[in-house]
Amino acid sequence: MKILVVDDDRFNLTVANEFIQKSGIECEVTLCNDPIEVEGLMKEKNFDIVFLDIVMPKMTGIDVLKQIRKNQDYNNIQVIMLTSLTDSKSFKSCFENGADDYVNKPINKIEFFARFKAAVKTRNNALMLKEMFDRIKKQNKELLELNKTLKDTQFHVIQKEKMAAIGELAAGVAHEINNPLGYLGSNLETLAKFVPRIQTMIEEYRTFISKQKTLVEDRDINEKISRIRDIEKQLKIDFVISEIGEIIKDSTDGVDRVSKIVGSLQSFAKTGFEDEMVLNDLNMIIDEAVLLLNNDLKRVAIIKKNYGGIPNIFCNKSQIGQVILNLITNSLQAISSQNRFDGEIIIETYRENNMVCCTISDDGPGIEDNIISKIFNPFFTTKEVGSATGVGLSISHDIIVKKYNGEFDVESIPNIRTKFKFKLPVGNN
Ligand SMILES: Nc1ncnc2c1ncn2[C@@H]1O[C@H](COP(=O)(O)OP(=O)(O)OP(=O)(O)O)[C@@H](O)[C@H]1O
Ligand SMILES: [Mg+2]
Repeated sequence: MKILVVDDDRFNLTVANEFIQKSGIECEVTLCNDPIEVEGLMKEKNFDIVFLDIVMPKMTGIDVLKQIRKNQDYNNIQVIMLTSLTDSKSFKSCFENGADDYVNKPINKIEFFARFKAAVKTRNNALMLKEMFDRIKKQNKELLELNKTLKDTQFHVIQKEKMAAIGELAAGVAHEINNPLGYLGSNLETLAKFVPRIQTMIEEYRTFISKQKTLVEDRDINEKISRIRDIEKQLKIDFVISEIGEIIKDSTDGVDRVSKIVGSLQSFAKTGFEDEMVLNDLNMIIDEAVLLLNNDLKRVAIIKKNYGGIPNIFCNKSQIGQVILNLITNSLQAISSQNRFDGEIIIETYRENNMVCCTISDDGPGIEDNIISKIFNPFFTTKEVGSATGVGLSISHDIIVKKYNGEFDVESIPNIRTKFKFKLPVGNN
């Protein structure tokens, strides 16, 4: 134990020191007869117990006590007042200012031992408690860190699984569609070549039949000709011939469109090339994403594109595509949640210094101030349990900010406009 005794009377110091040494408790004692020095001594040595005289010339013991208690680090130091004062006012002031105990002067050996041992016990308990508290605090910190690592790991596992699952699914679907798409396309091409031949043939038959009527007076043949004409009318052959070209053209357009969608799906779902980084045109990536969502978009909102002339960015197409898909999907879901079909989603791209910017905004319900700071947190969702995982924005944020050193922001005026904006460095490779 480190003990400090403060008293302006050297005799009292000697007595106190003698009693402490005789107490049987291992101690290192510092004696001080000038209260002004206490502050410095306290800083220098780590005292456990302080005996403090009250009446001293330069500074009273109560003032020294106040000085000690001002410092949080000295909270658990036991302060025992040495007093010859019997008036209750001084006692009150001692205890009000944080004294733990007192010893009467002249010092009585039995009383001194009793108070001193009690103080040693309390101090030891306090030290033990502090050590336990520090240990718990440290363990708590470790637990918090562990918990965070666990959460991060869980998030990344889910993120990877989600990306991989979507990628695999899309790649599989695209592959399956590609085959039938192939023969649909080539059949349509062949059909388009056959139709003019059939048209020519029909024309030939018609010319032949019309000539037959004038040449042959055979009643039987005339009847057969008029029967063929009736069938022609019933089957609306004129209409069929005039429409057939248009139908084939529409079907070919349709097949082209599906091909494009499958193409975008495949390029977004390149699971094997997750780290492939090349120069890409952001406007084109957006177009492909819009194409993939077109079916839902048609029913819910119109898309207004306002593309600027922007330089290419060095990126992985499927990663940036995923960010755009996430943002447009969120806008769609937000507008749908209001049971509206007249939403408006505006997509803009432009250049800002060395960055390419993209904003995606919608006129849906928006995001209230009290949750806007949480929407980028993994697993934060306001959607129904089971319908969303709440990882779309955190994945997107991760991609833009961590993978590409970009920026990602949101601003929302509920029911007016909610705008997500991300910036990516201009590609230079
Ligand atoms: N355009 C938006 N309008 C209104 N709220 C939005 C919009 N975009 C995101 N939010 C809010 O942010 C939350 C988090 O979005 P995030 O995309 O991360 O998850 P989610 O859409 O709920 O689920 P997931 O994307 O995993 O299917 C949403 O639940 C929603 O409350
Ligand atoms: Mg989402």
